[in-house]
This record gives sequence, structure tokens and C-alpha cells, in this order.
Amino acid sequence: MQQTADPLSAADRGVVRMHATRNDRWYPLVHIAARAGWINDPNGLVHLAGRYHVYFQHNPFGSQWGLMHWGHVSSADLVHWRHEPIALAPELEAERDGVFSGSAVALPDHQGIAVLYTGHRWLAPGLAQQVQCLATSTDATTFVRHGVVIEPPEQMADFRDPKVWRTGNRWYLVLGASPLDPADGRRHAAVWLYSSDLQGPGALRSWRFEGVLYRSPIDEVFMAECPDFFPLGDRWVLSYCAMGTRPHGYLDRNVNNARYVVGDWAPGRAFTPVTGELPCDWGHSYYAPQTMQSPDGRRLVWGWMGSFGRPEPVSQSDGWCGQLTVPRELDLGPGDAVLTRPVRELTALRRSSCDLGPITVAANTERSLAADLPGAAEIELALDLAHSDAERITLAVHRTPDGHQTLVVWDGQSGRVHLDRGRSGAGDRGSRSAPCAPDAEGLLRLRVFLDLGSVEVFVGDGDQVISSMVYPPQGPRAVAICAECGDARLAALRIHHLDAIF
Ligand code: FRU
Repeated sequence: MQQTADPLSAADRGVVRMHATRNDRWYPLVHIAARAGWINDPNGLVHLAGRYHVYFQHNPFGSQWGLMHWGHVSSADLVHWRHEPIALAPELEAERDGVFSGSAVALPDHQGIAVLYTGHRWLAPGLAQQVQCLATSTDATTFVRHGVVIEPPEQMADFRDPKVWRTGNRWYLVLGASPLDPADGRRHAAVWLYSSDLQGPGALRSWRFEGVLYRSPIDEVFMAECPDFFPLGDRWVLSYCAMGTRPHGYLDRNVNNARYVVGDWAPGRAFTPVTGELPCDWGHSYYAPQTMQSPDGRRLVWGWMGSFGRPEPVSQSDGWCGQLTVPRELDLGPGDAVLTRPVRELTALRRSSCDLGPITVAANTERSLAADLPGAAEIELALDLAHSDAERITLAVHRTPDGHQTLVVWDGQSGRVHLDRGRSGAGDRGSRSAPCAPDAEGLLRLRVFLDLGSVEVFVGDGDQVISSMVYPPQGPRAVAICAECGDARLAALRIHHLDAIF
């Protein structure tokens, strides 16, 4: 009898098995997620032959973190996405216990793409060996392995997440390191810089250590995960994920925290910061952001909405866990602030819109905006703070008949926008907030993206973002707006129903 080859890999079979029992109550409609299983960091962002490719850390066998593979989705327009087969499964001895995070570049002369990633293996319980590996592909789907290209220094267990790019006629790469300081016997997070020839036998294979690009200024931060380093306007931005931070005030409230610093850099020169460190996003659920350049020169970024430290309710029961943020574009604003906006393409997801403004909400009253807002939606608000005397203006979303809701609150006292999950439903609660300021006309604009299990609030014109997973109970999800201790005037209020991206 003739045998038919099974076209599915073991990893893809794992996804198919879990997909069959996936519970969709919080499964995203407008965010990238795996069909089933666990995901974390975005990886290998690249544009090749007319398509965007987004890979991600993926356990195809369970909805908790586990044996890491690279999952894969692609899109021609950043709006409609297609699931692709799993791109990288552990294959080499050096990556026996996981194909960890990494990045991609398009090769010169249309030769396809190269990915640099971390191969992870356990030498003993709790003792890892992490090396940087190279693979190439002509179609972004099937990869050829070229093995280990950067070995760790002796006794450095945390040494990972290469981010590669081209400047002039060389490849550069940053990675996260945790060198031991002999002075105090402790590890301190650092970002290391390497470079390689653009062409020839050594290209992307033979890397020269250029030096320490950056050291975390915070003493207790011991590892810089997922560093990224990219030009923006006339500056360079370094972002990384600090392990070991402690909460202080409004900052560093999560277990680990993604932050950035803006400065100047040129090949052969030191990186000189011109700002302090700032959070990339103020929400409960934002980590491991990675950027890429779009063909028209914009700097795009995706982050992982999830957390290692705080278990998500879906990871126990629903057959999937973890999603990426909506794609965002970065710009350099006045005062070297990094502005983060949803990519402009996302307006194409708007299926139908409902214009509810301008309106005034009288002091200490509330106005219902929708008895049920099913599916995913974007709500645009322009709070006319120049003509409002309310102390707080609150948009209540995901409000279910049993009294659960999530609040997006402009609070005049603190001068901040809060995302309050105090009565949000399942999972971790708590509030996060970002600073805000009205524009020259006295307007504070908010764009709020609602998905079945998340809320993302873009504050001002890209000034700040707050991204959190939110798990409301089942049933209709109402939306309302309330004013406290004064009237609230809204110059604009629009609700857009969004199409699904897959
Ligand atoms: C960050 C991270 C990376 C690592 C990957 C493993 O979330 O810990 O440092 O490469 O996840 O999944």
C-alpha cells in the first residue's frame, strides 16, 4: 500500500489538536494570536516580496510557556492576516530546549531573509546555555539552519535575544547580557553590540564584539531581555525589558518592564542617551516589543500582551494564551518623546461606525452609548477639557449584566488616564495609568481598542499607551460614559465596529 507523507510537522499537529477544543470566549478578533497554544514575544519581523511576516515565541503543545518554537503569521497590508505553518522547531542540539527570541533581516539582492535567534538548552536544572544561531529562508516559510554564530562568554547563563539590522555596509546586532560585576559579585543588565560583514563568507556568520552599548542604570536590574536599537527621526532609540525592577510610584508595576531611552549613535561611536528611561507602555500586559521598518520607511512595533509573572486565566482552560498588540507606528515627537500610534492601516478594519458626538454629559450622570458592543471595536473620544468642569470623565467598557466592567478614566486630580480593572471579571485586577495633557485646543484625544479579552488605550496624539488583558464574563457588553463633580463635554465620540483580522 502506498504511504502518503504527513504534511504536518509534530508542532503543527500539536496546534491542530488544541485548536479542536479551543474556547473562544476571550480569543482575539483584531490581535495576532496562535490558532492554539501559548505565545509570547514577537520575533523576526520582516517584509519580504510584498508580505509582512510576524513570527512569535510559541508552545504548540500547551497553553503555558514550554518548548519554544517560532509560530508564524503573514499579511500583505498589516490588516488581514494569514496563519502559516510553524517556522522553527528545535532541531539542533544547541536549541534542544527551545528556539528562543530573535529577529530577521531581508538579505541584499532579493536573496530572502536571515534570522538570528537564541538557541536554548539546559545543562543542569536551573543552568542554561544560550547561544546565537543563524538560519536563512528564501520564502520566509522554510528555513535552512547554519548553526551557532555567537557563543556565550564563560559563566553567562542569560545571553539572548539578538536584534539584527543594517547600517551602511555592515550588519549590526544587539543582544541582552547579564555580566557579573566582580566588584559586588552580582549580575547587572547590559546590551552588547556586535557587527559583521555585509557580504562574503563571514556575513552574518562571523561576528565581532564591538563593546557594551548600554548598561541598565538601575542597580537591581540583572538582565536586559529583548533589546532593540533603531533610528527614529534624528536620534537612536534603545528599548529593552528590564528583569529585576521594583515598583515605584506609577512606574515598573509589572513583574518585568519594557522601557526605552533616546540618544545618539553612529557606527564606531558610543551610544549617548539624551533622555532618561521611560516606559514603552503603561499597561499590565506589554512586554518584549520588537520593531521593524516598513517598505515606506515607518518604524513599526508589536509587543506581547501577556506576562510570565501573573498567570492569565485562559492559560489553564481555553487552549490558547497570549496575543500581540495591534501593530503600532513610532515617531519622534517634541522633546525627544517617542510617540506611539496604531498603524494608519488599521482604519481599514472599521466595518461600520456610529457618530455619537459632540455631547455633554451632565455632572454626576451617566449616558449609555451601547447596550451591547459585540466583537471588537475602536472608540474614539475627544474630551473637551477646556469646556468641561468634571473632575473625572469615565468610559465604562465590557460592562456585563452581573456588574463587571473595565473603566478608562480621565482624572483631573492626578492628571492621568487610568485603566481600572478593579471589577473587570476573571484574572488579575488592579489599575494602571499614564500621564496626559490636552492639546493646544484643550482637547484630550483617546483611541480605545476593545477586543474580547483586552483593552488598549492610546492617549493624546501618540503620547502614551496603556495595554492590558481584561477577561469580562460572558453576556452583552455595554458601554457608557459618566461625568463626576461637573459636566463633561466631548467634542467627538465615535464607535467603530471592527472586522476580524484572520
Ligand atoms: C522574553 C523572553 C526572552 C526569551 C523568550 C523565551 O519574554 O524571556 O528573553 O528569548 O522570552 O520564550
